[in-house]
Amino acid sequence: MKVSGTLKVPGDKSISHRSLIFGVLAEGASRVTGILQSADVQSTATVLRTLGAEIPELSADFVVKGRGLRGLMQPSRTLDCGNSGTTTRLMAGVVAALPIESTFVGDASLSRRPMGRVARPLEAMGARFVLPPHGGLPMTIHGGALHDLTWNSEVASAQVKSAILLAGLVSGVQARVIEPSKTRDHTERMLEARGAAVHVDDEGVTIDACSKLRALDTAVPGDPSSAAFFAGLAAIADAGELRLEGVCVNETRVGFLDQLRRMGASVLEEGRRLEGGEWVADLVIASAGNGLRGGSVGERDVPSMVDELPLLACLATRAVGETVITGASELRVKKSDRIAATVANLRAIGATADELPDGMRIQGGAGPLRGRVVTHGDHRLAMAFGILGAATGNAIEIDDRDCVTVSYPGFWRDLAQVVSA
Ligand code: S3P
Repeated sequence: MKVSGTLKVPGDKSISHRSLIFGVLAEGASRVTGILQSADVQSTATVLRTLGAEIPELSADFVVKGRGLRGLMQPSRTLDCGNSGTTTRLMAGVVAALPIESTFVGDASLSRRPMGRVARPLEAMGARFVLPPHGGLPMTIHGGALHDLTWNSEVASAQVKSAILLAGLVSGVQARVIEPSKTRDHTERMLEARGAAVHVDDEGVTIDACSKLRALDTAVPGDPSSAAFFAGLAAIADAGELRLEGVCVNETRVGFLDQLRRMGASVLEEGRRLEGGEWVADLVIASAGNGLRGGSVGERDVPSMVDELPLLACLATRAVGETVITGASELRVKKSDRIAATVANLRAIGATADELPDGMRIQGGAGPLRGRVVTHGDHRLAMAFGILGAATGNAIEIDDRDCVTVSYPGFWRDLAQVVSA
């Protein structure tokens, strides 16, 4: 299989959610260009509309009208978050700080995901939560005026950190989050650019009491987690190179690219530039020539490549030697249990892989891999195995190709465009 061509991957999912939420919380109008038009981002738009915000249909270029920090209203129906954990957890932080009662619902996968991790700190700030015994959805929040908090988070999660910072912001109190390891920092960057006083130190982040947020236009850069699939594809191709334009290369997001380099791939950054507070670059990734080498990933590396680990496990089957991923127990509470599902699928197609309590072990040098993959509706599994299926000798069927609409609706079209036999 050869690769060639240039792609502009869709807008970053994390920044897209935040551009809508922060646009609504600001004073005045914010223009958003290049937003990711996917199911997860639609869920954030739906929830904001249910709370009274005016958000036009998502398009390449539109304007969000700000309502101010405390302008959202009592909803008359449940807040439907679909499949989106980011929508649920970030918006939980917002509504916990408002004098309203709201109930979050979602699809079967989202309803099983842990919400205690946001309920605990937000309750410590003064909100009241009602969760089902399994700790997922439906989740009812009785919000109100909150008080200052310093929270020592057990999990390295940007969603948890953002929920607490947003609760502090909307309530006009100080909130500090100490993280076990640094997670993606888009909330900090975007709030600071809108006038909030955000202080980052070695242990965590603090937001000071703030009375309003400035409107600001957002040009959403390309999503590094979507670019990762095509970077991985180029690395396992027999020949050729791919150019990926306008990808966000924020240092909290590029762990996978660094890992590909450590495994022997050529990943070049060109035209590095600061756009709207985020570093953006064009990436040129070439076939690894003599092949990839296996490589290990540990706890400290995980947050900067958390969404890319199923892909890394798939690529590891094409590498020489073993790849071991540890410190990644968070993968068990993503859109599926990504440790169990990745390993079961790798085995189902003939690879050698084992589950570890907090990760997985994958043997490289696999022969042709053939069979059917069960995605459990998880977009990242569908795309990771889609990339592996494109490699020479492999023939992999994906049970639910459509689930890619969650983050990358044009994925299969883009894949077909850049590969040839
Ligand atoms: C996200 C944070 C990560 C990531 C998710 C998006 C965000 O989740 O997996 O896709 O936008 O804050 P966690 O915070 O649970 O690690």
